[in-house]
Amino acid sequence: KQLSRLSVCVLLLLCVIWGANGGNILVWYTEGSHWINMKPVLETLIDRGHQVTVLVPSTSLFMNTSEPSRFGYEPFNVTVKKENMEGILNDFIRFSMYEMDQMSYLQLYIRYMDLMKVNLQYSLKYLDGVLKSETIMKKLKEGKYDLLLADPIYPGSDLLADILGIPLVFTLRFSLANNWERHCGQQPAPPSFVPGAMSKLTDKMDFSERVWNFLFYALQDIVIDDVIWKEVDKYYSEVKGEQPSYRIPTHRVQ
Ligand SMILES: *[C@@H]1O[C@H](CO)[C@@H](O)[C@H](O)[C@H]1NC(C)=O
Ligand SMILES: *[C@@H]1O[C@H](CO)[C@@H](O)[C@H](O)[C@H]1NC(C)=O
Repeated sequence: KQLSRLSVCVLLLLCVIWGANGGNILVWYTEGSHWINMKPVLETLIDRGHQVTVLVPSTSLFMNTSEPSRFGYEPFNVTVKKENMEGILNDFIRFSMYEMDQMSYLQLYIRYMDLMKVNLQYSLKYLDGVLKSETIMKKLKEGKYDLLLADPIYPGSDLLADILGIPLVFTLRFSLANNWERHCGQQPAPPSFVPGAMSKLTDKMDFSERVWNFLFYALQDIVIDDVIWKEVDKYYSEVKGEQPSYRIPTHRVQ
């Protein structure tokens, strides 16, 4: 009897240790306020017993690897200059604070998309810094990560998760009309129920708002396909040597 009680205790203890034995989490790089928002999430993950490692570009403007922190860093080199990154950020801030109000809706959209295009070119160079670096890819494969946690503002986390064969978790619903999250993260977002990010709608929509939300999704999908996905698809196909299959058309998402 004593022995069986002891073995139950040991079993319980093992369960507790097993439960507290957290996962090994890799975190995709991000910048600015997105990084500030990400930090408390990482702290909580560490509190819950997970191990956290963050990918950091050598030209990061906001992620400071010398800052004392409980998470580890995996730095990678990029060919984009820090001045260029500061430049695009300044352009974006100038646009949103001073230029936007003076612009027609069409001008605004064209300017926004121009900024996005430049940003995308830089983002793909960052992606080169991870995927085309044998040193980093070897380290990441040997790191035995259980999961990739990513803020979707910078593309490529889905491709890395695919190459490493680990699940991907997005921290934030961010892109215009949730386009990235629907197509890459396969987030279910029926347009009559889920207001598109940046549509200025809420979850309480009347009929005409639902119709507008539906059109908003469709319109953004067409534009973003043209401006962003064409480029990203080309990049992904080059890396994978095949047609990309991660972006499943919405009608096939369960
Ligand atoms: C990075 O953090 C260290 C330690 O807190 C600090 O001394 C340094 O000034 C920081 N660097 C930047 C660029 O903020
Ligand atoms: C990044 O570049 C520096 C300087 O050229 C080099 O010492 C370092 O090993 C590189 N890091 C990686 C991960 O390739």
